[in-house]
Amino acid sequence: MVNDIKKYLEELQSFEIKDEKQLDQFRLKYLSKKGLIQKLFLELKNVPNDKKRNLGQEINNLKILANEIYDSLKDKFSSKSVTHKYEDFSKPSQILKLGSRHPISIVKNKIIDIFQKIGFDISEGPEIEDDWHNFTALNLPEHHPARDMQDTFYINKDPDWLLRTHTSSVQIRHMENNKPPIRTISPGRVYRNEDISARSHCFFHQIEGLYIDKNVSFVDLKQTLLYFTKQLFGKNKIRLRPSYFPFTEPSAELDIYWGLDSETDYRITKGTGWLEILGCGMVDPSVLSNCGIDPKDYSGYAFGLGLERITMLLYQIDDIRTLYENDVRFLNQFSKSI
Ligand code: PHE
Repeated sequence: MVNDIKKYLEELQSFEIKDEKQLDQFRLKYLSKKGLIQKLFLELKNVPNDKKRNLGQEINNLKILANEIYDSLKDKFSSKSVTHKYEDFSKPSQILKLGSRHPISIVKNKIIDIFQKIGFDISEGPEIEDDWHNFTALNLPEHHPARDMQDTFYINKDPDWLLRTHTSSVQIRHMENNKPPIRTISPGRVYRNEDISARSHCFFHQIEGLYIDKNVSFVDLKQTLLYFTKQLFGKNKIRLRPSYFPFTEPSAELDIYWGLDSETDYRITKGTGWLEILGCGMVDPSVLSNCGIDPKDYSGYAFGLGLERITMLLYQIDDIRTLYENDVRFLNQFSKSI
């Protein structure tokens, strides 16, 4: 019997199994009820008691090995898995759903690209600001009437913490920490205590630009804005309309000529063909001094625009609220615009 066990051990290890049929022959020969291993177990009855234990163990090891060989090849040859494999090859691959960028991010990235090409870097700052960076340094001391233009969410009055109402606060921080020449754009979220409607929301996004150097003039501002409108809207007719901001002097609004080709053009331009795009101006000398820059040596321009407004214009979105609802049916429409 010991010899039989040895012989089977060698045999089953060199048993040729190349397909399902041979695997079945293997099973019948060694593992079936009438197979050789079962036969050895039956013969164990006739073995003297003192050898039973050892021999039993050896037969059991043989069985374990045969089962291992069988199991490892079973899956490989089973007819089910073979057809399954071919099925996979013939099927079209699964379509993976890709996410899409949010339209505000798409427009933000476009604008960043446009300004990076002409040497602007990107600066960011905190959304929770102090009074100095959001107002006072920008020529808006306490009780200045123009503070009412920006309905502020105050967090705390003393010490003063508020939600920034514009990203001009980032420009102040940037001027405090960097020496001219400065060329930077600051994208970010801002907050104003306004009623929520189709046209306004209690938070929105801005991009502001700042350029400080020697001999920067209004001509530089106008040329830069012309370049920007050509790049973003493909329009090359602009006008600068006098306006007022406490931190720029002179100040202006940039309008672009949108045209009156369609009904929509009439509606969005109120029949004039002109659209207001952003606020801008030459940085007020006292703002420069507030940030430790000598206005006798340096001058500069600044501008600021609302990203929602531009996004709504470019994608013909009527209601600002759709930008924040995160309805995937809306967002999926932008998957090709990345
Ligand atoms: N900070 C202004 C606003 O939020 C925009 C602006 C920026 C205007 C820079 C002029 C210069 O309305």
